[in-house]
Amino acid sequence: MTFVFGPMESWELEVLDQAAECLVRARYVIALTGAGLSVESGIPPFRGPGGLWTKHGEPPMDGYERFLRDPKKAWEDRLNPAGPMRELWEALNSARPNPGHEALVALEELGILKCTITQNVDNLHRTAGSTRLLEIHGNATLIRCINCVARYEREEIDFAELPPRCPRCRGILKSDTVSFGEPIPSDVLAGCSDEAERADCMIVAGTSATVYPAAQFPISIHERGGDLLEVNPYESEITAFCRLALRGPAGELLPELLERVRSRL
Ligand code: APR
Repeated sequence: MTFVFGPMESWELEVLDQAAECLVRARYVIALTGAGLSVESGIPPFRGPGGLWTKHGEPPMDGYERFLRDPKKAWEDRLNPAGPMRELWEALNSARPNPGHEALVALEELGILKCTITQNVDNLHRTAGSTRLLEIHGNATLIRCINCVARYEREEIDFAELPPRCPRCRGILKSDTVSFGEPIPSDVLAGCSDEAERADCMIVAGTSATVYPAAQFPISIHERGGDLLEVNPYESEITAFCRLALRGPAGELLPELLERVRSRL
């Protein structure tokens, strides 16, 4: 999906300046990112124009129950994906971080961005170099034990036996990605809640803000008087709570925002 945005109007430049001022003046800035941040890396979003669920329909909401009922079949499907999941995994396998990911890394290195909470499972924030990162929906390159919550790289796991077993506790292993109906692993959820409680400003980039608990964090920050800065070509469920909205692709607007922050330091 390509966005055709002409040269920025003066009011758009003004909003970018105001957003940069917000970030520099804030005490504790965090970011919440979603599928839209990876669209310019070639990964389709889920909802809205070109969304996987828009095209193929929402997946069943009982993914985790299905996994627990028959983990062997779930793994066979995971290792031989079909339909929309095949499209998603193929896009993930060839994707590279884009300037939007890189701008967030630079804001972290400047000490402005304290943490990034991502709903994306595509590993692109890590690949770009984000270190203060919480992957609330998991990471598609990792395997997690549903018993002891230990996480492993794929290479560490023997898939000869399905479902694969945890080398530490022999518990059943699952992709680290959080399935619909699965509780968010408590270690990650606690980390996200802590960061959201500390924050007085949040960059909300590339998310429709429709999936909870992730969508609750910006609302809580807003309710405590914090600032929300939205980066999204379209309005989302969070727009009404945002102090400023940067309307356009994150891969173009986040680097612009970064430059204006830099010029104020
Ligand atoms: N830059 C910024 N935002 C963009 C871009 C772009 N280049 N392209 C699209 N968007 C916006 C869309 O306007 C939309 O608001 O990104 C958002 C993507 O929304 P969703 O597809 O709903 O993705 P997300 O919010 O991450 O979904 C949350 O839902 O399906 C589950 O587990 C999945 O983590 C996912 C969760």
